[in-house]
Amino acid sequence: MFKLAPSLLSADYWNLERAVTPVVEAGAEVLHIDIMDGHFVPNLTMGPGITKALSGKTNAILDVHLMVTNPENFVAPFAAAGAHWISYHIEAAIHAHRVCQQIKDAGCKAGIAINPGTPIAALEAMIEHVDFVLLMSVNPGFGGQSFIPSTFDRLAQLGDLIERSKNKPFIEVDGGVGPANIAELYRAGVSVAVAGSAVFSRPDPAAAVAQLLNLVEA
Ligand code: DX5
Ligand code: ZN
Repeated sequence: MFKLAPSLLSADYWNLERAVTPVVEAGAEVLHIDIMDGHFVPNLTMGPGITKALSGKTNAILDVHLMVTNPENFVAPFAAAGAHWISYHIEAAIHAHRVCQQIKDAGCKAGIAINPGTPIAALEAMIEHVDFVLLMSVNPGFGGQSFIPSTFDRLAQLGDLIERSKNKPFIEVDGGVGPANIAELYRAGVSVAVAGSAVFSRPDPAAAVAQLLNLVEA
């Protein structure tokens, strides 16, 4: 049940329909939507309007990644816009448990995201509650960065934490994913892989999706 999640961050905003339709038809089941506030991360992207524009237009799961401070303020607007999954950062949530509850109450799957520099142990109290963990394999803020190799050690640590937990959240990895590492990530326990530049910065994004999915199935 591996899923590929192309990140819209690298898509051509001139014509989103033309960007998104072929990658979904090629087998991408999730669309990753990166929300940056210029505060938690040093970049700005989009508000709920883009999620709303996609809602109902595609069969893909709309996966909203909140890279914002005060995530509690943004759950309701993104849920109303049609998000299916919403993740927020453990580093940004003062009341992490409450935000998780808000997301679930809104009818979405709740994910906790964690930066490369934050110990996996920081997830301990939330692992029993979340539907998934979004493990960052770059420092959030920009597409096209290099995958941080220590992510594999962190995946092993996260796997141990989940093993000890009654709850079994799935693992999504985000940043620098491409043909060189996707199969190994899958073998290391990743169920959903985000790929921005490895899909949308390629000349044929649909072919890139097919290639990435083939590498996992091989
Ligand atoms: C990084 C974002 C990622 C980004 C991934 O801040 O959270 O989702 O779009 O882009 P690539 O795949 O190019 O590293
Ligand atoms: Zn992301």
